[in-house]
Amino acid sequence: MRNMFIILLSAILLFEGSFWNTAVSTTVTYDSKALVIDGKRRILQSGSVHYPRTTPEVWPEIIRKAKEGGLDVIETYVFWNYHEPVRGEYYFGGRFDLVRFVKEVHEAGLFVHLRIGPYACAEWNYGGFPVWLHFIPGIQFRTTNSLFKKEMERFLAKIVNLMKDENLFASQGGPIILAQVENEYGNVEWAYGVAGELYVKWAAATAVGLNTTVPWVMCAQEDAPDPIINTCNGFYCDRFSPNSPFKPKMWTENYVGWFLAFGYAVPFRPVEDLAFAVARFFETGGTFQNYYMYFGGTNFGRTAGGPLVATSYDYDAPINEYGFINQPKWGHLRDLHISIEQCEEHLINANATQISLGKNLEAHVYYRSHNDCAAFLANYGSSTDATVNFRGNSYFLPAWSVSILPDCVNVIFNTAKVLSQRTLDDDVFTWNITMHDSSLPSSSWSWYKEQVGVWGNNSFEASGLLEQINTTKDTSDFLWYSTSINMTAKTEQNQTKEVGLLIWSLGHAALLFVNKRLVGFGYGNHDDASFIMSAKVKLHSGSNTVDVLSMMIGLQNYGPWFDVQGAGLYSVVLTDLTDSEEDLSSMQWTYQVGLEGEFLGLQNVSLANSSIWTKGRAIPVNQSLIWYKTVFLPPEGKGPISLNLSGMGKGQAWVNGQSIGRYWSSYLSPSSGCSEDCDYRGTYDASKCLKKCGQPAQTLYHVPRSWLQPGENLLVIHEELGGDPSTISVVTQNGQLICNRVSEADLPPADTWEPGVGFASRTPLLRLSCETGWHIASVRFASFGTPGGNCGALSPGSCHADVSSIVHKDCVGKQACSILVSTDKLGDPCPSVLKSLAVEALCRG
Ligand SMILES: *[C@@H]1O[C@H](CO)[C@@H](O)[C@H](O)[C@H]1NC(C)=O
Ligand SMILES: *[C@@H]1O[C@H](CO)[C@@H](O)[C@H](O)[C@H]1NC(C)=O
Ligand SMILES: *[C@@H]1O[C@H](CO)[C@@H](O)[C@H](O)[C@H]1NC(C)=O
Ligand SMILES: *[C@@H]1O[C@H](CO)[C@@H](O)[C@H](O)[C@H]1NC(C)=O
Ligand SMILES: *[C@@H]1O[C@H](CO)[C@@H](O)[C@H](O)[C@H]1NC(C)=O
Ligand SMILES: *[C@@H]1O[C@H](CO)[C@@H](O)[C@H](O)[C@H]1NC(C)=O
Ligand SMILES: *[C@@H]1O[C@H](CO)[C@@H](O)[C@H](O)[C@H]1NC(C)=O
Ligand SMILES: *[C@@H]1O[C@H](CO)[C@@H](O)[C@H](O)[C@H]1NC(C)=O
Ligand SMILES: *[C@@H]1O[C@H](CO)[C@@H](O)[C@H](O)[C@H]1NC(C)=O
Ligand SMILES: *[C@@H]1O[C@H](CO)[C@@H](O)[C@H](O)[C@H]1NC(C)=O
Ligand SMILES: *[C@@H]1O[C@H](CO)[C@@H](O)[C@H](O)[C@H]1NC(C)=O
Repeated sequence: MRNMFIILLSAILLFEGSFWNTAVSTTVTYDSKALVIDGKRRILQSGSVHYPRTTPEVWPEIIRKAKEGGLDVIETYVFWNYHEPVRGEYYFGGRFDLVRFVKEVHEAGLFVHLRIGPYACAEWNYGGFPVWLHFIPGIQFRTTNSLFKKEMERFLAKIVNLMKDENLFASQGGPIILAQVENEYGNVEWAYGVAGELYVKWAAATAVGLNTTVPWVMCAQEDAPDPIINTCNGFYCDRFSPNSPFKPKMWTENYVGWFLAFGYAVPFRPVEDLAFAVARFFETGGTFQNYYMYFGGTNFGRTAGGPLVATSYDYDAPINEYGFINQPKWGHLRDLHISIEQCEEHLINANATQISLGKNLEAHVYYRSHNDCAAFLANYGSSTDATVNFRGNSYFLPAWSVSILPDCVNVIFNTAKVLSQRTLDDDVFTWNITMHDSSLPSSSWSWYKEQVGVWGNNSFEASGLLEQINTTKDTSDFLWYSTSINMTAKTEQNQTKEVGLLIWSLGHAALLFVNKRLVGFGYGNHDDASFIMSAKVKLHSGSNTVDVLSMMIGLQNYGPWFDVQGAGLYSVVLTDLTDSEEDLSSMQWTYQVGLEGEFLGLQNVSLANSSIWTKGRAIPVNQSLIWYKTVFLPPEGKGPISLNLSGMGKGQAWVNGQSIGRYWSSYLSPSSGCSEDCDYRGTYDASKCLKKCGQPAQTLYHVPRSWLQPGENLLVIHEELGGDPSTISVVTQNGQLICNRVSEADLPPADTWEPGVGFASRTPLLRLSCETGWHIASVRFASFGTPGGNCGALSPGSCHADVSSIVHKDCVGKQACSILVSTDKLGDPCPSVLKSLAVEALCRG
């Protein structure tokens, strides 16, 4: 009795003790192997989620899906330019409520890796630097420059203190276990010479001096000074090793796909290759890995970096732009995380023993004793499947794959074998189109035509061509360059003369008007935003006006000295004149920052009923520099909402005064280079797997549901080139096509494996699930036998049992279901033939 009491008491104390520890203080250190949290080495799966790339209402949902997907850590940058839009004036509201975001992650029970930078890159405007920084006289970014260092140190301290004040560091009971200073500086350090090397040392010392109590990392930074951990960024990091034997092998950016730029095909990364990269990393001693991005989201407003980064930042991430699970990516990685976790005790307590199993074949074994080990078997050849012998058993290893054996005997996962369902992109089936409701009093279009050229009394003159960023200070994408050409001396009275105008620009795009008529459009691309534009124009005698509207599409965010890369016109030449060419570059030019419509605030709700708008039946189409407005009702249901702008040119759109970003539907990607059936085998890079060749990069533009209200919603479009607003629709996803195929010979799900016990059942399962809150509405195809075709186009094979009614009974009306792939369950249409179950179903919200 007495003993019992003591045991009970100490159990309570122990429980209380550990509760106290996690609630109030967690210690984070590291050793040669891993991050050490409360004295225990940890295998950690992490994923990037950038808080301003969605709305706060959606944060909990995304974090929950990340946790269900097997993540332990959420990583984010901190976006200085939006937190300090004016020097000394801070903003942490709305989508930029960093504290709320970190607390949401904490509440979900995940850790945070806070990459303070303050340089972010991230395809974010100016890499996250405030543009005012550029105007501090004598400043040089990211190098030994006292003015820059002072500002950087101040912002680092600001963020660290904000986190400390809110008790968000692990030692304070918060979720932050890791912090980053600078970002990928090692990639550009060469361009800064000795000053760059000194800057790295300074940045490291400054970070450490902030006493965060958590380790700091510097990514892509081989010379990161102790105690800062240098980490790897890349498509593969298995060959990486840190710069000291006392530091763990960590991977901070594992690209799940790639970002999108206007004028480019859409990149994707097959999950088999991504899983291979992750498995190889943990196989070879890695212990921390972060998906960049796990959720990419949207570049709302003018947050997109540049040049020409698109508004969608979907990234082919496991959670798509709208916050929906992207299958099979999410599910296959989840299975992978579960499988790696099954090996955690071995991975953290042993070093790998490498064993060659043949050409391009190897095993890494983590022994706790001879009979207690976990193993990874890899075939890193890109074309030849193999059967290998390992500890007396034989294993089939498809090319470019890794098998995971948590007990050195049983394979519970192979990176090339996807058992997770697919979600099919099928616009027609799953998007419902709505736009005008004739019952709305103000539902037709109104418009406002911009003035061409100088429009306000705040224009100014200067001789010569000004650099654009220095002139606009990024208060607008637009700068008017206006001048006039006097033809009196060169033509007879009342004659017109054809001349050529040649314009050189540093970027990013420009519209050329002569005598207020559009005569040319020039533009660059993401890799080189500079361009030359030429136009043949007729000038009449006397004075002719020349107005060039130079446009920026996101400030540069990457590269050495990217902050001083300029934009705008730098040379204008008149050619074909009888008396040779004439350089207009150093003439007197008149400048106007921004557009008239921006100055008027046409996007604002307050002007929705203003008489400034023209109403009428005939909407002007194919006009440049025109504003359109209408109202629409929010689409029914709870599905994601987009604006379909495929019939428009280039511009920006606002819903209820909130900018949903820039669009550019008329810029088509190159017509070749795509491969929808991209072979996942072999080394991946950002140009390997592309889709949507010869099409716009993006036609659907995300409208967050939380920006809509019941009843009328205001839509304002600024069209720069020419489009037809009557083609615009508001679309909502109200269905999802899902599909899966599992064979009798496939593995049971990894999460049914228990160490020391094995699989709960040897029978494979076909699993289906819909988005949270959605249900399976119908079964479109279900065959047990030898079904042919791929998901989306399945067909019965020579052996076929229509099992729709079984699947219907088990699945319809449910959010998720699973079906045993066995003859017991499904009958046997063809004994002694290896059979598969293939199912396609439709989910509804
Ligand atoms: C960090 O800790 C050191 C030593 O305890 C102290 O001298 C220093 O002032 C602290 N710095 C900050 C920013 O709190
Ligand atoms: C693993 O290797 C590290 C250094 O390479 C060494 O310090 C450590 O003792 C080794 N661990 C084991 C369990 O052998
Ligand atoms: C978008 O609109 C175009 C026509 O303007 C149409 O072909 C396409 O199917 C639409 N996409 C969606 C998802 O509604
Ligand atoms: C599409 O939306 C309309 C209302 O805008 C609704 O009446 C219709 O049922 C929806 N269609 C589907 C398939 O959900
Ligand atoms: C022009 O000046 C007046 C004040 O004199 C001011 O109210 C107005 O906003 C200015 N307009 C523009 C386009 O700058
Ligand atoms: C154009 O040239 C004529 C003759 O040289 C001159 O009278 C006139 O003022 C000039 N106009 C402009 C706008 O420079
Ligand atoms: C020039 O042409 C305009 C119409 O284009 C005409 O009104 C004018 O009289 C002409 N002037 C001369 C001098 O021919
Ligand atoms: C912008 O202005 C600054 C200071 O006047 C100058 O040093 C810099 O070269 C200009 N930038 C560009 C890109 O022209
Ligand atoms: C339009 O709205 C923006 C953002 O709310 C505001 O800064 C601006 O002053 C408004 N402009 C006008 C003309 O109302
Ligand atoms: C514009 O008018 C509509 C009614 O026609 C009204 O519902 C709406 O509130 C008005 N908007 C503003 C900003 O005044
Ligand atoms: C739109 O206008 C441009 C020139 O202004 C013309 O080249 C083009 O054919 C027009 N497109 C349509 C669809 O009318």
